[in-house]
Amino acid sequence: MKISARTNIYGVIGYPIEHSLSPLIHNAAINALGIDAVYVAFHVKPGTLREAIYGMKALGVKGFNVTMPFKTEIIPYLDRLDEEAIFVEAVNTVVEVDGVFVGYTTDGLGAFEVLKSMVKNLDGLDVVVIGAGGAARALIYHLSKLPCGITILNRSIEKAKIIVEKLQPYSNAKLTYGGLSKDYQEEAIPKAHVIVNATPVGMTTPGCPISPSLIGCKHIVFDMIYWPPETQLLIEAKLRGATTVNGLPMLVYQAAYSFKLWFGRFPPLDVMFKAAEEGLSKYGER
Ligand SMILES: NC(=O)c1ccc[n+]([C@@H]2O[C@H](COP(=O)([O-])OP(=O)(O)OC[C@H]3O[C@@H](n4cnc5c(N)ncnc54)[C@H](OP(=O)(O)O)[C@@H]3O)[C@@H](O)[C@H]2O)c1
Repeated sequence: MKISARTNIYGVIGYPIEHSLSPLIHNAAINALGIDAVYVAFHVKPGTLREAIYGMKALGVKGFNVTMPFKTEIIPYLDRLDEEAIFVEAVNTVVEVDGVFVGYTTDGLGAFEVLKSMVKNLDGLDVVVIGAGGAARALIYHLSKLPCGITILNRSIEKAKIIVEKLQPYSNAKLTYGGLSKDYQEEAIPKAHVIVNATPVGMTTPGCPISPSLIGCKHIVFDMIYWPPETQLLIEAKLRGATTVNGLPMLVYQAAYSFKLWFGRFPPLDVMFKAAEEGLSKYGER
């Protein structure tokens, strides 16, 4: 990589940010395509987001990713939002267009690609999404375009209800919701084909977001968490013969869609996957 006075700057903002795999993933693709750009991590302290965004604009940063804890907090500081980001109420990608910052979310497309790689045709299938935060809403936005069944199970049942009420008028899917209590789980999980964990349970909180005894060999279990690579949920699902996938491919696909928004072309996925896997293999040492 050659950096000159013409090199365009891209990056990711978050707090903390030093564990982010995004610089590895994006710089690998930038190098592979010979683009004159560099992607760096910006450690933005809580309470300084507004200054950080105005500073990025003043310095001519061309685009950046947004991660925890700023995905929703950033919205008032952006000039425009894409329709999906408005529904999801979260932004993970910002694109500079003629001096204006436009917010998008690519998490939903990333998660949707993972499901499509696991199940060729989701039509007619039942998907249980555990969680109703930004990542869950982003996936549900895309799933709701298909004639499938979606059940949202969330700790705060009210949040799941709001998603269903907002999406139902435009949805091709049959949407239902519930809490995380035993009754709701017993009703939804045995008949589901696909189970998605969109909560941090298994990463920041130990344990499993649902009762493992409800998981069987016909299930496809997708945990959006990529560290640890095998959460308690995925360990239990594997033990019961289910097909499992962790959050690493989602990380790569969402990065690929951000890349496309910035550079107008899809990056080489194999290069991104290799960089992500290499970065993750050193995660424990970081
Ligand atoms: N692989 C990737 O590329 C990728 C991308 C984005 C996100 N993710 C992962 O997806 C997960 C969700 O992210 P997010 O951005 O949607 O977060 P978020 O907006 O903060 O939402 C978190 C969700 O998890 C639920 N939750 C939190 N703690 C819980 C607990 N102890 N028990 C049960 N439910 C709990 C929350 O329920 P309440 O509504 O009741 O608070 C909420 O529905 C995280 O693990 C994140 O790392 C992965």
